[in-house]
Amino acid sequence: MAERVLPRTAGLLGGGVIGAGWAARFLLNGVDVQLFDPDPDAGRKAQEVLENARHALRRLTMAPLPAEGSLRIVDGPEPAVAGAGLVIESAPERVELKQELLAAADAVAPPDVVFTSSTSGLRPTLLAARMRHPERLVVGHPFNPVYLLPLVELCAGERTSDATVARAADVFEAVGMSPLVVRTEIDGFLADRMLEALWREALWLVNDDVATVAEIDDAIRLGPGLRWAAMGTFETYRIAGGEDGIRHFLAQFGPALKWPWTKLTDTPELTDELLDRIAQQSDEQVDGMGLRELERRRDDCLVAVLQALRANGVGAGAQLARYERSLMGAAAAGDEDAAGRPVHRATVLPEWVDYNGHAHESRYLQVFGDAADGVLRRLGMDAAYLEGGHSFYTVESHLCHLGEAAAGDDLVVTTQVLAADEKRLQLFHEMTRAGDGAVLATAEQMLLHVDSGAGHVVPAVGEMRDRLVELAADHSVLPRPERAGRAVAMPSA
Ligand SMILES: NC(=O)c1ccc[n+]([C@@H]2O[C@H](COP(=O)([O-])OP(=O)(O)OC[C@H]3O[C@@H](n4cnc5c(N)ncnc54)[C@H](O)[C@@H]3O)[C@@H](O)[C@H]2O)c1
Repeated sequence: MAERVLPRTAGLLGGGVIGAGWAARFLLNGVDVQLFDPDPDAGRKAQEVLENARHALRRLTMAPLPAEGSLRIVDGPEPAVAGAGLVIESAPERVELKQELLAAADAVAPPDVVFTSSTSGLRPTLLAARMRHPERLVVGHPFNPVYLLPLVELCAGERTSDATVARAADVFEAVGMSPLVVRTEIDGFLADRMLEALWREALWLVNDDVATVAEIDDAIRLGPGLRWAAMGTFETYRIAGGEDGIRHFLAQFGPALKWPWTKLTDTPELTDELLDRIAQQSDEQVDGMGLRELERRRDDCLVAVLQALRANGVGAGAQLARYERSLMGAAAAGDEDAAGRPVHRATVLPEWVDYNGHAHESRYLQVFGDAADGVLRRLGMDAAYLEGGHSFYTVESHLCHLGEAAAGDDLVVTTQVLAADEKRLQLFHEMTRAGDGAVLATAEQMLLHVDSGAGHVVPAVGEMRDRLVELAADHSVLPRPERAGRAVAMPSA
């Protein structure tokens, strides 16, 4: 199993929009969190954000997440960093406040603990001015919602060590993020430079009464916004240049950049009148939806976009696939019953329940699929094995539905290997309810070992090959399950 990259505990300074998002991302990746925020409501807010994050991650991936970490709200920067292997500062964007907070935490944390700041644009050299160990501070600028969007911009200051940047990148990668190193220390880093240009234009368009806030948002989300998730700016314009690519695009539209469209260098004065207009139009736009409701809708849409990108191996979707492989590799092999059969546990989630009031039939297959994955992990299928181009594909399933599973039911699946050789694995699963032991379903599955690049069945390699045969031999002494080998048939009258 891979060496543990993640710290056991993260110390968070500031638990607002961003700090609570960090808390959720680390907790859901099995890291304990110690959070300091002077706001007495910080604990409640963090719990609400965590609930939304759980909801989002359950939809985002079926890969096994580690057991959730525990959240502790503490009353100062010192207890937040005590024993923490990583410190993340997400306090308000005020230089002196951040400098003071970082200095207080720096004074008590062992020198090898890496600090990151979530600042949207302040230079790390400035933020580290009062730290005794400025070499340990790097900007780690995330994007809201932190628990879903993978990008984190890493920007080093004049005294930041290379080891700090490398360590921060490893940790963020291990919680499913895509660290992007900003090679030059600049204000605003990369994404916010571009976003600010757009934001200025948007404010001018409202200021000049050209468009409402809803119209301006539609101008992004109905068009360019859809493209950006897959292509960013340059790839978009390359394709827009047709067969002659980006040179043609620049030749055609380059001169337009000199036309006096933009007010980019200037910002409208944020008068009370302009603020009122924006606030009123924004209220109309959301039509009474509250913050958490808006966040939930945003998250559901982001999950769908991320999954679509994953299916195409593009942008944030490629990162999601890597993250899932690492989760598979890191997941514990799980326990086994007295007969040596691997055990998989799951809980019926509310969204699994259909109009009949119990879990939809497809969820049984999902749980059996997860149980089969658990057996494969036990056999040694980790991220390295998958990246080596090998995997198992399920080619046949036979499922017997014997009882109903209600929301909240804890399920226990035991799996017996009926037969195996170097290319094939025949499994028999039995699903029971934890409370009363009622058998809810059984399934028999045939899995084939494949070269996933070529899509061909090939023999398992290395230790996997031996373990397959060993597990089958261990299980060969178990009685054959009564329902093994069943086919769908109409009983004779
Ligand atoms: N909101 C965003 O979209 C976004 C995105 C990326 C980065 N950031 C950056 O993240 C940081 C936090 O921004 P936010 O949007 O979460 O702001 P926020 O106002 O939602 O949260 C800031 C939190 O810091 C707390 N705080 C105040 N003084 C503190 C102190 N001395 N010690 C610890 N906590 C303290 C506040 O009570 C508040 O809960 C800023 O540096 C911001 O630039 C924000």
